Amino acid sequence: MADNYLESKMEELRQTGQKEPAAKHTRSLETLLTLNRSYRGYDKKVVVGRSTLEKIVTVNTKIPSAKNQQVLRFKLITRDSGADKVLQNIKLGGMLPELHLPCPGTEPEAFIIICSTVPESKLVDIDLGIAAQSMLLRAVDLGLNGLMIGAFNKAVLKQEFALEMEPLLILAIGKGAEEIRLTPIPENEGRAYYREKGIHYVPKVRIEDLILP
Ligand SMILES: Cc1cc2nc3c(=O)[nH]c(=O)nc-3n(C[C@H](O)[C@H](O)[C@H](O)COP(=O)(O)O)c2cc1C
Repeated sequence: MADNYLESKMEELRQTGQKEPAAKHTRSLETLLTLNRSYRGYDKKVVVGRSTLEKIVTVNTKIPSAKNQQVLRFKLITRDSGADKVLQNIKLGGMLPELHLPCPGTEPEAFIIICSTVPESKLVDIDLGIAAQSMLLRAVDLGLNGLMIGAFNKAVLKQEFALEMEPLLILAIGKGAEEIRLTPIPENEGRAYYREKGIHYVPKVRIEDLILP
């Protein structure tokens, strides 16, 4: 007996002799989550255009929102529409200041500036997190990568792009050009990411230490 919706739907189709729909996506959520790392270096040969950014922002028509208020709005920036201005006003890899990331020639060139129509609050921030992660997962789904950027010069970017709303977070989108590995750590170990021989390591607290006794 099928114990979930998808399986029971498949069973129903099999019983009625209908063809099962071809699996459109072969990558599981587990895979998307693993691939969804924070990239600070991108392959400039892969140019992300406005239509790709629109596809990514479209996830916002399907995600949860506190009180269903949907206060987030999105400014799309591509190579031809001001990426250089964004680049001058963001900070990447603050925990590795000596590396001055991004490395020259690997700068991101497409951005989504996430704004809110109402002042920032706990509920707006929760919506923001859901939106940002959903968009990055969609980017991975499209074969791209990204980065959430909270360290940016709000005042300057607000002025540069004539934003009437408060920018809360920026997403960089592109084809990642870095090798990134997750490393499981116990609760009491340092969480700072680091680089060794060109590989970017991200410590993640292991599952045993995440679940409360
Ligand atoms: C809300 C938020 C803001 C962030 N802001 C920045 C930022 O300004 N610059 C940066 O390089 N990384 C930023 N990051 C990326 C984190 O450093 C990254 O998520 C963390 O190092 C873990 O790496 P991972 O995303 O690959 O798991 C931000 C992440 C989050 C969730």
